[in-house]
Amino acid sequence: MKPLNLELDGPKYLEQAASQPGKAEAPAPVAGPFRYLGQKIPRVDGRLIVTGKAPYTHDLHFEGMLWGKILRSPHAAAEVVNLDFSSALSLPGVLAAVKLTSGRIRYVGEPVAAVAAINEALAEEALKRIKVEYKVLPFVVSVEKAMEKEAPQVFDGPNIQKLFEYTRGNIKEGEAQADVIIERTYRTSIEVHHPAETHASIAHWKDGRLTVWDSTQAIFSVRDQLARTLQIPASQIRVIKKYMGGGFGSKLGLNDHTVAAALLAKETGKPVKIVLTRRENAYCMGNRPSTMITIRGGAKKDGTLTFLHMKNYTGGGIGRGDRCSEPLIDIYRCPHVLVEEYSVFTNTCASRPTRAPGHVQGTFALEGFLEELAAELNLDPLELRRKNHSEKNLGDTGLPYSFKGLLECYRLGAEAIGWVRRNQVPGQGKGKVRRGLGMATQIWWGAGTPGTLADLKIYPDGGVEAICGTQDIGTGTRTYIATVIAETLGLEPKDITLRIGDTDFPWAPSSGGSQTAPSVGPAFRDAALKAVDRLKAIASKKLNCPPENIEVQQRKFYEKNKPDNAVSFNEITRELRRVTVFHGERSDFPAGYAFNSFGAHFAEVEVDTETGRVKVIKVVAAHDVGRVLNRLTAESQVIGGITQGLSASLFEERLMDETEGKCITTNLHDYKIATLSDLPEIIPLFVDSPDPLINNLGVKGLGEPPRIPIAAAIANAVFNAIGLHPRVIPMTPPRILSLWKEKEGKK
Ligand code: MOS
Repeated sequence: MKPLNLELDGPKYLEQAASQPGKAEAPAPVAGPFRYLGQKIPRVDGRLIVTGKAPYTHDLHFEGMLWGKILRSPHAAAEVVNLDFSSALSLPGVLAAVKLTSGRIRYVGEPVAAVAAINEALAEEALKRIKVEYKVLPFVVSVEKAMEKEAPQVFDGPNIQKLFEYTRGNIKEGEAQADVIIERTYRTSIEVHHPAETHASIAHWKDGRLTVWDSTQAIFSVRDQLARTLQIPASQIRVIKKYMGGGFGSKLGLNDHTVAAALLAKETGKPVKIVLTRRENAYCMGNRPSTMITIRGGAKKDGTLTFLHMKNYTGGGIGRGDRCSEPLIDIYRCPHVLVEEYSVFTNTCASRPTRAPGHVQGTFALEGFLEELAAELNLDPLELRRKNHSEKNLGDTGLPYSFKGLLECYRLGAEAIGWVRRNQVPGQGKGKVRRGLGMATQIWWGAGTPGTLADLKIYPDGGVEAICGTQDIGTGTRTYIATVIAETLGLEPKDITLRIGDTDFPWAPSSGGSQTAPSVGPAFRDAALKAVDRLKAIASKKLNCPPENIEVQQRKFYEKNKPDNAVSFNEITRELRRVTVFHGERSDFPAGYAFNSFGAHFAEVEVDTETGRVKVIKVVAAHDVGRVLNRLTAESQVIGGITQGLSASLFEERLMDETEGKCITTNLHDYKIATLSDLPEIIPLFVDSPDPLINNLGVKGLGEPPRIPIAAAIANAVFNAIGLHPRVIPMTPPRILSLWKEKEGKK
C-alpha cells in the first residue's frame, strides 16, 4: 500500500484511513479543494469523437487492404462432411480462403470458413460459391426443452450441468427460526450487447511480425490468445485499439474473425479487414445468458432474514451461462444460505460476459424477492434492507469491507426520490394509470488490478507524455489519466499527451469488470508522485528550501506560505536534461479486507392497466464508488447504465425460431432498444468518499454498478403501483397485462 499524499488527499482522507474500515456511517466527502479531481472535466477527446475524427477500427484503411468475410453455419447442429473452395477461389479478385471449423457445428452462425477478396462485394460473392456438405443433426434451442430427458444432447452428456454451489449454516435451522417463508421464481431473457461499433479486426504481417487493429476491450488477452492459437511468440504480435464504440463484455476475448483475418493476411501477404455486420452482432457474437432463479427464504416478524435458498438454471447456449448468486451470498446479513446453480446447454451461440454478468440477473431475483417478502411482513422494503445491513462480506461472516457507503446511498436516494410518497400498501392507488415507487441494492467488484503499469515521460522542454497499454472502451479513460497527472504535477489536463491502446505499451488489464479506472488511475498517480518528487528535489535547490515545503500549482513550484519564491515547471524540467521516464504501478491490496462498490437505485413508474405499458418517470441512482475522478463522465456512466438497464428491463429479448434453430431478432427493429422518448429523468448521486484502503486514489470502478439494480428497482416500483410483481424480464405490455388480468379474474 502506497502512502497517501496529504496535499492531494486532504486531512479528512487520513482521518478516514485511521478510522474503523467498514463503518456503517459514511464519512463526509473528502476535503478539497482540487482543481480537477472530482470536478466536471470535459473529455479531452470529446471534440475528436463527436466530429467523427476519432479513428475506430472500421475507419482504418491501409494500402492494398483486402476484405474478409466469414461463412457461417445455417444449421444449429451438423457435421461438415465436405468443404470445397475451388469455385470461390476461381473468381478473379478472390485471393484466399481458409477453413475455420473443426467439423462439428453446434449453433446457427458458427464460423465454417473465411475468404479474402479485393472488395466487400466480391468477398460476399465468394462466400456464396463455397460448397459445404453438411450432415444435419438434431438440435434444441429452448432452455425448457433442453431440460427434458429426451432432448438432443448439445455436447456428449446431459444438457444440465452443475455450475456452482455454496452452503453457509444450515437452511433447516433457518426455516425453523422464520415467522414467514415465501418462494418465488424470477426469469430473465437473453439480452444482446449491441455496441454502437460492431466487432472488427484488421490483420497485417510485416517482417515476420503480426499487427492487429482490433475492436477489443482486451488488447493484451487478444495478443496472448492469438499467440497460442497461431503458435508464435507473443512478442511477435502487436494489438492496437485506439477508439472504441462500446463492448459491454462482448469484446473481452479473442474472436474467430480475428484469427481468420490473421490467417488470410498471412496467406495473401496483405492487410485483411473483417467488419462484422449488425446482424452478425445480433445472432452469433454472444449475449447475456437467460436465467430462471427460484428463491425460497424466510424472516422473523421484524424482518431479520433467517435463511435463503436459491436455485438457478442459466442458459448460455453452448457456453456455461452466468453464476448469479453472488449478491445473495454477499450483501445481506443472513446466517443460513444454500445456493445451487446449473447451466443448461442449447444449440445457440455461447453467452459472453455482459455488463455485470450474473449480478444483473441475480439482483433482479434477490431484490424482487425482498420486495415481496417485505409486503408479506408488512414492512417498508427499504427498512427491511437496512435491518439486514452487513459490515462484512459473505453476509457478515467474512472480511470487513474496506469501505461501505451503502447506508449513505439509501439515505441520499430515499430523500431525492421522496420515498415517503410510495404506496404504503402495494397497489392501493385507483384509476387506469397507477404510480409506484421501488428501490433495489447493488454490489459489485471493481477494485482494480494490482500490477497495472503506467509510464510518465517528462521532456526537458516541459512536455509530459502518459503511456499505458489500456484501451478506452469509450468511457473517458484519457480524460481521467490527464486529470490525475495534471492534478499531481500542477498542470492542466490539456498539457498531457496521451498514448494508450497498444500492446507495445506497459501492461494494463482488460477494460471489463469495472477495473480500468481503479487500475490505470492509481498507476498514473504513482508515476506522477515519483515525478513530482524528482522535480521537487530540483526545485528545492533553486528555491533554497526543503522539498517538503514546496507546493505545486499552475505550472509553478513554490515555497509554502512564500508564493513569490517560485520557479516554473519548465525551468525545472530543463534541469532533467533528457527525456526521463517515471514508472508507475498499481499497488497490491492490504490483506484482510473485502473490496466492493455499492449503490441503490430508486425508481418511480406509471403503469397503464389498460395497455400494460410501464413508463419509468424518474430514477435516482446513488452510488458509492469511492472517490469520483470526474463528475461529468461519472454521471454519464450512470445515465448510460440506467438507459441500458431500462431498455433490457422493458424491451429487449432475443427470440429463437425453435423449428429452424435460428435467431429471429437480428436487427434493431425486431430487437427493440430504448430510445430517448422511453427515458426518464435520471438523477445520479455519489457518496464520493475516497475508499481509505483500496488504492492511492481511493477510487472504485463505475462501469458495471449502474447497470445492476435498475431492473429490480423498476419491477419493485411496478409492484408498488399495481400490487402485482412482474417476475419476468423484459416487462413487456403483454406480460404486465396478463398479470393484471389474472388479478381481475380472481376478483
Ligand atoms: Mo464487462 S461484462 O466486464 O465489459
